[in-house]
Amino acid sequence: MKFMKTKVYQLAEVNDEKILILAVETSCDETSAAVVENGRRIRSNIISSQIDIHKKFGGVVPEIASRKHVELILPVIGQALEHASVGLDRIDAVAVTYGPGLAGALLVGLSAAKALAFATGKPLVGVHHIEGHIAANYLEHETLEPPFVCLVASGGHSHIVYVEDYGDFEIMGQTRDDAAGEAFDKTARALGLGYPGGPLIDAQAKMGDGSAVDFPRVYFSDGSLDFSFSGLKTAVLNFLNTNAQRGGEISIPDVCASFQQAVVDVLVHNTIRAAEQKGVKKIALAGGVAANSQLRSSMKEAAAGIGADMFYPRPLLCTDNAAMIGSAAFYEYKRGNISGLDLNAVPGLKLGTACG
Ligand code: KG4
Ligand code: ZN
Repeated sequence: MKFMKTKVYQLAEVNDEKILILAVETSCDETSAAVVENGRRIRSNIISSQIDIHKKFGGVVPEIASRKHVELILPVIGQALEHASVGLDRIDAVAVTYGPGLAGALLVGLSAAKALAFATGKPLVGVHHIEGHIAANYLEHETLEPPFVCLVASGGHSHIVYVEDYGDFEIMGQTRDDAAGEAFDKTARALGLGYPGGPLIDAQAKMGDGSAVDFPRVYFSDGSLDFSFSGLKTAVLNFLNTNAQRGGEISIPDVCASFQQAVVDVLVHNTIRAAEQKGVKKIALAGGVAANSQLRSSMKEAAAGIGADMFYPRPLLCTDNAAMIGSAAFYEYKRGNISGLDLNAVPGLKLGTACG
């Protein structure tokens, strides 16, 4: 990923023992700030989740998310510095997610980070949200180094990414419609389970039979590693409607387990093919769906089948948090990818694009 340098900063000596980055993340419904040391060690990671507010609406309401970020951003940044026991003077750079995400939400974190960078004279590092999710693995696994294949599956994205080097990515497959997390959330909603759907379906599935209902799995015949989950969501809805019309009983755990099995099968199959194509023996998971217990165990088993090692962050680092942004920012900073103070929010930012 290339960042346009609009200002040349005197960077701290990168060989210096400890580069501390203050990172900010507000792309969706988590207001988060963190201090990360040398891209690998979390000194603090404050996450203020708005889930309880958005739950009432069955999903994230962008306008409410932005307003909450405005209320929370300064206290959250203050806490991150306090927990890390550092003052702003000791921070080497300020990092922030500038896309993809909700425009209004991104702008809150971006404005705060730019103001801090301007006031302190520290460099600003704009970070791609997906690059952050991938970097969560560096926080969890101290010795993990590229190249590896990473499945990034969250509420907004389902990407298979070949991480050739730090900040150097190739997208090998992506969803053509719904993201994997979105499929979990919409299915949970149809089942009346609540929001966010992923953890709720994960819990129900543990009590069900994954082979009870044969839901569809989409594999593209042209060899593409892309995903499609909208047909699966429709198949669950049709199954529920048909049963309701017939007055039949359904087992929620069985439907959850069968749905989850269908999603996991496709995610695992395509990711393993990607690793085989690249000839890499390291497979990582990232994003909220990486917290899924069945995805973790099935991917581990399939990875072992091709002699590959599996990496995934603890659940807290799978979902949105600023520490992952601080880790990704460290590698951009080391490469001299410093953003100008004119950095804008880019809601539809693609991985691997330059920013101005
Ligand atoms: O990465 P994330 O916090 O936000 C985005 O960038 O989208 O991911 C949130 C998504 C939600 O769709 C949520 O349902 C899903 O991750 N998720 C899970 C699990 N925990 C969270 N999906 C499946 N199983 C889980 N255990
Ligand atoms: Zn995310």
